Amino acid sequence: MLKPASRTAAMVAACRAAETEDGGACNDPWARHMVDAGAYEMARAYAEGFPAFQLWIAVRTAFLDEQVRRHIERGCRQIVILGAGFDSRAARLSAPDVRFFEVDTPGTQAEKRERVQRISGYPQLAATYVTCNFESQSFVEQLVGAGFDTTAPAFIIWEGVSYYLSESAVRNTLTRIAEELAPDTVVAFDFLPLRIVQAGSGTGVRESVELVRSVGEPFIFGINYVIPLLYDCGFRRARQLTFDEAWLSLSGRYDRDNMFRFQFIALASVAYPVTV
Ligand SMILES: C[S@@+](CC[C@H](N)C(=O)[O-])C[C@H]1O[C@@H](n2cnc3c(N)ncnc32)[C@H](O)[C@@H]1O
Repeated sequence: MLKPASRTAAMVAACRAAETEDGGACNDPWARHMVDAGAYEMARAYAEGFPAFQLWIAVRTAFLDEQVRRHIERGCRQIVILGAGFDSRAARLSAPDVRFFEVDTPGTQAEKRERVQRISGYPQLAATYVTCNFESQSFVEQLVGAGFDTTAPAFIIWEGVSYYLSESAVRNTLTRIAEELAPDTVVAFDFLPLRIVQAGSGTGVRESVELVRSVGEPFIFGINYVIPLLYDCGFRRARQLTFDEAWLSLSGRYDRDNMFRFQFIALASVAYPVTV
C-alpha cells in the first residue's frame, strides 16, 4: 500500500493559494485547485506559532521562480523539482524545449497526478514524473530512467524538503548533484537552523514544530551554516542567504516581525557562479 500523500506539501500549497488570492508575494493560480479544506486549516494552525508563515512560503516560491527564469535564460533545458509535492512550476514557467522533472515519493506523487488530472486546463504533459525516496534511492538513477541527461546542465529546486530528511539523505542527495551531474548544474534549497528543528527556547515556533510532527512529518535535519557541508559534498560555488535578504530583494521591504532571519536559502554549484 502507498504511504499517504504528504500533508505538509498540501499545507504549503494552501499558503500559495491564499497568497495568490490575496495578490501577494507569489502567483500560483493552480494551487487552489490542488488543496483541500484540511490543508488551509493546517496552514492556519501552523501560523499560530509563526504568523508570517504564508508570506515565508510565498517568498521562497517567488525567489525560486525567479531563479528558474534566470537559469532557463542562461540556457538550462532541464529543471528538476525534488520533493515536488503540489508544485505547479511545470505549468506556470514552461518554455520551449525545457523539460520539467518532478520527483517525489510514490504516495505524494500519485495524489498530485490524480489532482491535476481533475483540473480543467492544466497542461497534463508539462512535467515528467519520477518517483524516489531520498532516504534509500538515487534520484539521479531514477531521473536517467526518465530521459534526464546528466551531461547537460540542470537547475534543481529542493524546496521545503531538507528538514524532513536524515543528514545522510541530505548529504547523499547533494553529493550526487555535485558528482554525477554536469558541473554547471545549480541546486537551490531552503533549510532551517538547529534551534528551529529542535524547537528551542526563544524561537516561538514550538507549536508549529509539533504540528508537523503530529502529521508524521517531523523536522529532523537542521544546520546553522551550510557552506562547509556544501564544500564537503563537492560544491565549489555556494551562497547562503536569509529569507530577509530574499524578501528585501523581491519587495524592497524588511520587517523584523517576520522572523525571517531564522530561515535560509542556499544556492550551490560545482562550477557555475551562483548569484542571488
Ligand atoms: C513541505 S513538502 C514541500 C513540497 C514542495 N516542494 C513545495 O514546496 O510545495 C515536502 C515534500 O518532500 C517530500 N519528501 C519528504 N521526504 C521525502 C523522501 N524521503 N523522499 C522523497 N521525497 C520526500 C514530501 O513527499 C513532500 O512532497
